[in-house]
Amino acid sequence: MEPEYIIYAENVYKSFGGVVALRNVSLGLRPRTITMIIGPNGSGKTTLINVISGVYRPDRGRIFFDGTDITGWPPHRIFSRGLARTFQVPALFTKLTVLENMLVVARGNPGESLFKAIFRGSWIKYEEELVEKAFRILDILNLSDLWDKRARELSGGQMKLLEIGRTLMCDPTAILMDEPLAGVNPSLAYNILEYLKNIRDRENVSFLVIEHRLDIILPYIDYVYFMVEGRVFAQGRPEEVMENKAVLEAYLGE
Ligand SMILES: Nc1ncnc2c1ncn2[C@@H]1O[C@H](COP(=O)(O)OP(=O)(O)OP(=O)(O)O)[C@@H](O)[C@H]1O
Ligand SMILES: [Mg+2]
Repeated sequence: MEPEYIIYAENVYKSFGGVVALRNVSLGLRPRTITMIIGPNGSGKTTLINVISGVYRPDRGRIFFDGTDITGWPPHRIFSRGLARTFQVPALFTKLTVLENMLVVARGNPGESLFKAIFRGSWIKYEEELVEKAFRILDILNLSDLWDKRARELSGGQMKLLEIGRTLMCDPTAILMDEPLAGVNPSLAYNILEYLKNIRDRENVSFLVIEHRLDIILPYIDYVYFMVEGRVFAQGRPEEVMENKAVLEAYLGE
């Protein structure tokens, strides 16, 4: 494992029946970066994030997070260790409100009746702080006016935003995002990216983001992996990768 990475996927393979989704993929997320994975449909991007976050066990290869080998750990254990994620199709509690969706995921939420009874004062303060934090994040995502709407009443783009909000509630070390800007209008997308950049710099959070909307996201990216047919086809700083003729042919010529 290479110590300069917060996440490192090493020689990962994953197949579904006869379909080989990942073929010997090695990819690292450096601390304090926003790193992007791009590639055509079906190139294995979501599968890689699923393997890193514990949804799938790799057939071969290892996953390291924050210096620990987490290969085969269940998703909840990886999450409590500080690695959060969003889904390509949002996985919200559809019957809960926007605010409730934000509050249920907060890490270390001491939602225990005995605890509440004994430490009532500190519990209330803790809850107040969580609600304040939730509203600060909802403000950035343009969702605070919708705080008491049920998640199922949101538009597709708003659901994606709420997913981002939930990951930010739990003070993660790193966040995996699967197409977070799909369905989000450009000016809001820029605000969100500015906010993520601030968190990266101020709170030391690292982001691994799958995104198709290169026009919006490229200026915010520190490093790019380009995947084709389950392999890492090219990698480097955005300006290097986007000038690579083979990448342009594989991507834009598709
Ligand atoms: N659960 C699954 N069962 C069977 N095949 C799967 C499964 N998940 C992914 N695949 C297959 O693995 C390959 C990679 O899919 P994946 O979803 O990782 O691609 P992607 O790069 O995220 O594509 P997109 O840009 O369309 O989201 C595809 O051929 C896909 O059909
Ligand atoms: Mg995908």
